Amino acid sequence: MAIMEGAVRSGKTVLNNVLFYSTVRGNTGRGLHYIITGHTLGSIKRNVLDSIAEQFGVNTTVGTTGTFDLWGNHIHCFGADKADSYKAITGMTAHGWYGNEVTLQHENSIRECFNRCSGEDARIWWDTNPSYPQHPVKTDYIDKSGERLSNGRLRIQSWHFSLGDNPYLPAEYVENLKANTPQGMWYERAINGAWVAAEGLVYALFDREIHVVEPFTPPADWKRVRAIDFGYTNPFVCLWGAVDYDGRLYIYDEHYKAGALIEEHAQEIHKRGAVSWTVADHDAQERAELNAKGVPTTAAIKEVSLGLQRVAERLVVQPDGYPRLFVSGNCVNLLREFGQYVWEPVKDGRAVKEEPHKEHDHAMDGVKYMVATLDKGRGGVSDVGAAELGL
Ligand SMILES: Nc1ncnc2c1ncn2[C@@H]1O[C@H](COP(=O)(O)OP(=O)(O)O)[C@@H](O)[C@H]1O
Ligand SMILES: [Mg+2]
Repeated sequence: MAIMEGAVRSGKTVLNNVLFYSTVRGNTGRGLHYIITGHTLGSIKRNVLDSIAEQFGVNTTVGTTGTFDLWGNHIHCFGADKADSYKAITGMTAHGWYGNEVTLQHENSIRECFNRCSGEDARIWWDTNPSYPQHPVKTDYIDKSGERLSNGRLRIQSWHFSLGDNPYLPAEYVENLKANTPQGMWYERAINGAWVAAEGLVYALFDREIHVVEPFTPPADWKRVRAIDFGYTNPFVCLWGAVDYDGRLYIYDEHYKAGALIEEHAQEIHKRGAVSWTVADHDAQERAELNAKGVPTTAAIKEVSLGLQRVAERLVVQPDGYPRLFVSGNCVNLLREFGQYVWEPVKDGRAVKEEPHKEHDHAMDGVKYMVATLDKGRGGVSDVGAAELGL
């Protein structure tokens, strides 16, 4: 089992692509089964299949079942991010498994893939960016690098990558990547390749001096959007955002109220003018009620860690001295939550799901939904800032 772990864009995936491909090629015509897992089928295509096709001039187009043939062997691809994803993998005997970005995959899928790799001399290749230090990928595998089987053969070998290990990245790209990565936990992991914990304030970067502007009415030709987080006992939140010509987002108004019915919220929302789109939390009943009151919504992108990272990236001050997210001073609840939103503390060093503490998170969810939709298509977790740089 070979594990490539460390900084983003450091060459981990490119190396595993070569190792995987040469193994399949070396077994030409044997009809063996190989598994490729990734966060989603889309990320497998982006990170692995397209790159193999380009580098080796082979066809890696997957059929509807996520399968294709390569050199007379069968390759099965699975997005492994959900608790029940593993069900698609059960039953087969595999001679190899390539896990791309394994910390983003569900533990059930990881367990099932190990069970599948019962073919003789089966090989496993993993790559991953760092996560929290108690992550099972770190404690159960990376930390056991060098361990041998009873017959003396090496069981696990892991390699650590830093950004400097990849000489193919243009210096300007590396400089931009560093400048666009939020300082603190995200920077330690993505750039330095360190397995550090998420602690304290989620948006430690948020600074009233930098991110707060005087209340204002956005010019009529800026795009206006809304994001809604439902609540009755907890507050119902609606945030209004306006996007300027440089793509900078100004959250200029909020409606934040507990204990009221949808009808009242809808009236309040109508008072504040028209928008291009509204994203909302997924509650079907409440979205239907809002729709009936003339506030149609789109279901928000709910991927937590990606959403948090997108917001943090917008808080980073750009070379011109300004961030890409501003909050207007009248949004008092939103501003308060920015100062109270913390990561769930790690208890007794025990591995926990890495998420913010579920308190003071109502307006925070709204910001996350708004930014996730605005910044959709800017690539996956390992591509921090890559898309807008054209890479
Ligand atoms: N050996 C190599 N030869 C040429 N280019 C490389 C090589 N290794 C990495 N690269 C370049 O660096 C980029 C990032 O590598 P990748 O393996 O995707 O990083 P990681 O998986 O560590 O995030 C690739 O898209 C490719 O352009
Ligand atoms: Mg990669």
